[in-house]
Amino acid sequence: MTKAALFDLDGVIADTAVYHLKAWRKLIQDHFNQDVPDGLLAQTKGLSRVDSLNAILSGLDLTVSEEEFARLADEKNDLYRQSLADLNEQGILPGISELLAELRKKDFHLALASASHNAPLILEKLGLSDSFEAIADPRKVGRGKPAPDIFLTAAKGVNCKPEDCIAFEDSAAGITAIKAAGSYAVGIGKQAELNADICFIDTASIDLDEILNNWQENK
Ligand code: BG6
Ligand code: MG
Repeated sequence: MTKAALFDLDGVIADTAVYHLKAWRKLIQDHFNQDVPDGLLAQTKGLSRVDSLNAILSGLDLTVSEEEFARLADEKNDLYRQSLADLNEQGILPGISELLAELRKKDFHLALASASHNAPLILEKLGLSDSFEAIADPRKVGRGKPAPDIFLTAAKGVNCKPEDCIAFEDSAAGITAIKAAGSYAVGIGKQAELNADICFIDTASIDLDEILNNWQENK
């Protein structure tokens, strides 16, 4: 059996999820003088840039023109990319380099399933550009998370059936996407929020043997 591990990026491989949230908060503060509540911000985790902006504007009852929408999305990306300026190998979350090595040793193919258009840049800054055999390009993927498309594309990229894949995610939308793809969902964060097949509070706590035993038992 060809098996693969599919990875989300922001909040799983790198500690960049928080930069997305900070950029949204600053954008809305600068343009609308409003604070985005934590709960609303959290809902954007895993969503594409456009879906995130839509969710924030509708959550705050704000309406903008198409042109303004595009400008806001661009400005958010500029703010986000500024926060990536100093990102380097130290930005890889604890335990992730070891996890990637362990998976490779166990003959797992590795693929990236991130919604971020900035994923190649981030992988380069982290020194991980050559670590994944396939990187699903969100520009070419139909629907964003919580739809399964990006995970299906990543699995296909390494010639693997989705049911022979385990996938790592820190967002509820991403876990829904993994399950919809028919893969085994490993959550990073609070299980009450994620509803994953198995969950670890942070990347340092990930236990691959536990994951693989549980995956086999539940297949
Ligand atoms: C996901 C993040 O990984 O990428 C989201 O969890 C973000 O917060 C999405 O909106 C898209 O990222 P980018 O870099 O293309 O704006
Ligand atoms: Mg994430």
